[in-house]
Amino acid sequence: MRGVAKNYCSTFLGFLQLYAVVAVRVPVAYLPNLRTAPPKEHRGYESLTVQWGDQHDYEVVRKVGRGVYSEVFEGMNLKTNESCIIKMLKPVNKNKIEREVKILQNLCGGPNVVKLLDIVQYQHSKTPSLIFEHVRSTDFRVLYPTLTDYDIRYYTYELLKALDYAHSQGIMHRDIKPQNIMIDHELRKLRLIDWGVSEFYHPGKEYDVRVASRYFKGPELLVDLRDYDYALDMWSLGCIFAGIIFRKEPFFDGHDNHDQLVKIAMVLGTDELNAYLNEYDLELDPQLDELVGRHSKKPWSKFINADNRHLVSTEAIDFVDKLLRYDHQDRLSAKEAMSHPYFSQVRAAESSR
Ligand SMILES: Nc1ncnc2c1ncn2[C@@H]1O[C@H](COP(=O)(O)OP(=O)(O)O)[C@@H](O)[C@H]1O
Ligand SMILES: [Mg+2]
Repeated sequence: MRGVAKNYCSTFLGFLQLYAVVAVRVPVAYLPNLRTAPPKEHRGYESLTVQWGDQHDYEVVRKVGRGVYSEVFEGMNLKTNESCIIKMLKPVNKNKIEREVKILQNLCGGPNVVKLLDIVQYQHSKTPSLIFEHVRSTDFRVLYPTLTDYDIRYYTYELLKALDYAHSQGIMHRDIKPQNIMIDHELRKLRLIDWGVSEFYHPGKEYDVRVASRYFKGPELLVDLRDYDYALDMWSLGCIFAGIIFRKEPFFDGHDNHDQLVKIAMVLGTDELNAYLNEYDLELDPQLDELVGRHSKKPWSKFINADNRHLVSTEAIDFVDKLLRYDHQDRLSAKEAMSHPYFSQVRAAESSR
C-alpha cells in the first residue's frame, strides 16, 4: 500500500465531514466541567484497520531517542528526499499500539499536533513503525533557560492550541512533559508528540493512575482518584510552566510517587490537600499521610528571585495559580487558559497577522 499519506488526508477529510455532521448535533466546544464525551464515531480503537505504507520508502539515518515503548530514529523519505521521524514500536500490548494509531488518526491535522505521515512494517519487526514529520527541536534543558518572557507566553499558547484541540476531540494526552513537546525555535514551531499513553475520555470511567511522568503527575494520580479527566494535562502544563517562569526544573522534584505528593503539599499546603481529599471521600494511606506532614500554602511570590524576576508577572502568577490546583475541577480548561490575560499580547499579535 503506497501513498498512505494521501489516505490519511482523505481519512482526515472524512473526519472533517463527519465532524461537520456531529457539530450540528452536539456542542463541539469543550466545556470543562460538563465532562464532555467524545463523539460516538471516535470510540473503540479495537476495531482499527491499519493501511500499511511501503517500508522501502524510508531509510533510517540515525537514532534520536529510546523509550520503554519505542525506538525513535531520524529517517529519510526516499521518494520526496524529506527528513522524517521513524518511531519503531516495541511489541507491547496490541491494543496500546492500535490506540496510539487511532488517536493520531483522530487528531491528524489538528493545530500543533505532530503529523502522522505513514505507517509501515519492517520485515524483521513484528510491530508497526510510525512515520512522523520531523521537528528540529532543541533539548528543553538548553532551550528553556534562553526563552524570553514573550517566548514563554507564545509557546505556552501554542501548546494550549494542541491541548484544546485534543480535549475537544475527547482525548486526554496523559504524558505532558518537556520531552514530549518539540520546539523548533528557529521556525517558532511547536508540536505535541507521543500520544502513546493517550486515551479517549468517557465520563465516569475509571482510568489507570499509572500514567504521566513523575514530576508531572497530577494529585489525582498520586491519591488514586481514578475518574480523572482532561484536567490532568492542565496540571502537567502547570508544572512545566512553573518550572520555566521560576527557573526551577522540575518544579516539583519528587524522588518517588509518595515524595511527589509531599513536594506538592509543601507548596499548595496540607489544609488544602485535606479539603480536597474530603471532597472526594479519599484517605491517604497512613504511611503517606505521615510523610506528607503539615505545611502551610506557600505564596507564589516566594519563588521569585533575581534570576527569574524578568519572567514573572502578576498575570503569570495568576495563570500558574489557576492551573496548579489539587482539585482537577478547579483548574482552567485549555480553552479558558487561552483566554487568560497572560496571553493578550500573543492573541493580539496573532489576530493582526
Ligand atoms: N516528530 C519528532 N520530531 C523530532 N523528534 C522526535 C519526534 N518524535 C519523537 N522524537 C524524539 O524521540 C523521543 C521519543 O519519542 P516519543 O514519541 O516520545 O516515544 P516514547 O513513547 O518512547 O517516549 C522524543 O522525546 C524526541 O526526542
Ligand atoms: Mg515520549
